[in-house]
Amino acid sequence: MVPRELFLPQVMWPSTGQGYITVSKTDDPEEWRRWADADVPIVTQWDDGHHIGTTPGKLATSSSSMPSAVFSMFADLSVTDGARVLEVGTGTGWCAALLSARLGEQNVVSVEVDETVAGCARKTLAAAGWHPEIVTGDGLLGRPDRAPYDRILVTVGVHEVPRAWIEQIRPGGVLVMPWGTRYSGQNAIACLTAAGDGSAGGHFTGATRFMHVRSQRLDWPEFDDYLPGEGWPADTRRSTTGLPAAQIVDESDYAASNFAVSLQIPECARTFARSPQGVQTIWLFGLGDLSWAAVFFDEDASADSRVYQGGPRSLWDEVEAAHRWWYGQGRPGHEEFGLTVTADGRQQVWLGEPSTLVPVR
Ligand SMILES: C[S@@+](CC[C@H](N)C(=O)[O-])C[C@H]1O[C@@H](n2cnc3c(N)ncnc32)[C@H](O)[C@@H]1O
Repeated sequence: MVPRELFLPQVMWPSTGQGYITVSKTDDPEEWRRWADADVPIVTQWDDGHHIGTTPGKLATSSSSMPSAVFSMFADLSVTDGARVLEVGTGTGWCAALLSARLGEQNVVSVEVDETVAGCARKTLAAAGWHPEIVTGDGLLGRPDRAPYDRILVTVGVHEVPRAWIEQIRPGGVLVMPWGTRYSGQNAIACLTAAGDGSAGGHFTGATRFMHVRSQRLDWPEFDDYLPGEGWPADTRRSTTGLPAAQIVDESDYAASNFAVSLQIPECARTFARSPQGVQTIWLFGLGDLSWAAVFFDEDASADSRVYQGGPRSLWDEVEAAHRWWYGQGRPGHEEFGLTVTADGRQQVWLGEPSTLVPVR
């Protein structure tokens, strides 16, 4: 038994679904325990540790992941007795303790990029009676000295699977990680088996949302670079769309349609906002060039929505085509898609089987 509460700090920031709240064990122990037991992610560090005070900071940079997400990843990992596991993203140390309890601490090594977080995890683990090796460093490099591993569990999101992980896992070994493009920040859990020839592949097992590894965070585009000056640029292309906003964004962002679109338009970042008048706006920004699109969805869902696009790509047209493709394929769910990392390091996303590649626009 490895209680999560042993790995949570005195002051923590659970997610309520609408945002984050501050909960202090000293001020309200009952409330603290209620949140510690809740199936929600709990932020334990903001802004890479530069945040001061107890109000939530800007960017969540370390957390105790949502227990149901952790256990679902453990199920995908399907460890057997004595398996040697590399964890990437130690965070609070709770997953490292769970792995130690199951496999023996000598079989567990966990890498954490943040020195303070790693130090804190080491102390908390020791206080709870566990001593897996906690390495301070970049988990994208793995931990070659202890390779080969039977399993690699990544508890932080990636856009690209690093070579080192495939080199450090034994043939037939399983890698489980939150993976996604830069489109929306949404991830799905990729469960890949190493072939032994430098490639790895397998299905996604469900939708998830994880913070991203430090070096792969989206450096958000500057709005003014895309739309300088006042009003719409002179070359703006105007049109309308009948596609409902809910097909392109939903509150949780876990919809399969979003995932399918995100796979097809990796070189694009999408954001959205809702005005007090109930108008929802979707913005798209090209990541390889300065293409942009804005779509204004009216409250009245039956009315066509206004589309504005600029730059060499017509990003909204790409989103519509990607959505049409998904619909035409019979609206497949996350689990029907899969990922292959080829021996020469290319990432290929497929539908149904590895030879049926998802089109990239
Ligand atoms: C969601 S938390 C992990 C939760 C953790 N497994 C637990 O049980 O509490 C993600 C962690 O990954 C760490 N991280 C980010 N980039 C990393 C990298 N390149 N290498 C290793 N750790 C990284 C963050 O600092 C953060 O602590």
